[in-house]
Amino acid sequence: MALRYGLSVFEGVRVYRLAGGGVRPWLLPQHLDRLRASLSAMLLPDPGVDEIPGIVAELTARNGITDDAYCRISVSAEGPGLIGDEVKGVLSVTLRPMGRKRWLNGADGMRLGVSRWQRPSAAVLPTHAKSIAQYAGSRIALAEAKAAGYDGCLLTTPEGRVAEAPTATLCAVHGGALSTPPLTDGVLPGVTRAWVLAACRDLGIEAQPRSTDVARLRAADEVFLCGTGLEFAPVRALDSVTVPDWERRPVMSRLAEKYFAEVRGETRATEVRWSSDD
Ligand SMILES: Cc1ncc(COP(=O)(O)O)c(C=O)c1O
Repeated sequence: MALRYGLSVFEGVRVYRLAGGGVRPWLLPQHLDRLRASLSAMLLPDPGVDEIPGIVAELTARNGITDDAYCRISVSAEGPGLIGDEVKGVLSVTLRPMGRKRWLNGADGMRLGVSRWQRPSAAVLPTHAKSIAQYAGSRIALAEAKAAGYDGCLLTTPEGRVAEAPTATLCAVHGGALSTPPLTDGVLPGVTRAWVLAACRDLGIEAQPRSTDVARLRAADEVFLCGTGLEFAPVRALDSVTVPDWERRPVMSRLAEKYFAEVRGETRATEVRWSSDD
């Protein structure tokens, strides 16, 4: 059923090495809140989400994980095969080592093309669900962008606004104030997005969800992507237009510094509430 109808929801969770020894899944309760919301939105039964923290701990121990890793949790529909049939939710959890992507500490920034492809609207699919069905179009958009020489792309909304990257949240900084597209623009309610909005409050950086279009984005001083797998990546250019502060990236750098101090357990973790509503 998962393959026939694209019925599978998932989470990507980082497991981080702690400065004092050991490892810890980062913001796991928030990821599980989103997983429950995805299951409910896609009408899939709960296969035992409450058991996932124990499964992740067991996988970590059995595989002798002592450094940064990435855990993928998915719930796929299994059933007799007709579209209207009842389904069972089959849970699978995998864990593999994963360090930094090349963007965070590298000398370069991403060159993104604004795609002709859109995120599905809320009238097409529940946009707050992290459902595999959302990714088929994003994958085409990314392939097109790469073929055109970009490092990645931004998907738009049916109204012509800019939404997000295929697997990461978009953030822009104008005059020191951060904004990220609102959930009403059909973006995934990112766990890192929720962390960024809360962390900005701690850092005294003005931050709010706000719709953007290409013209507004081009007027930003700084643009970056964030997400569990990518962590933080500076954007150097949008289409062929250079982002002025991409090299200094002052806001992204402050956030990344705070993030890594928290994930390593060196400072208290910011309180993050995941919600499908801004
Ligand atoms: C479409 C999309 N948007 C945003 C994100 C970032 O979300 P999170 O911070 O929860 O990883 C992801 C990550 O998987 C994603 O697939």
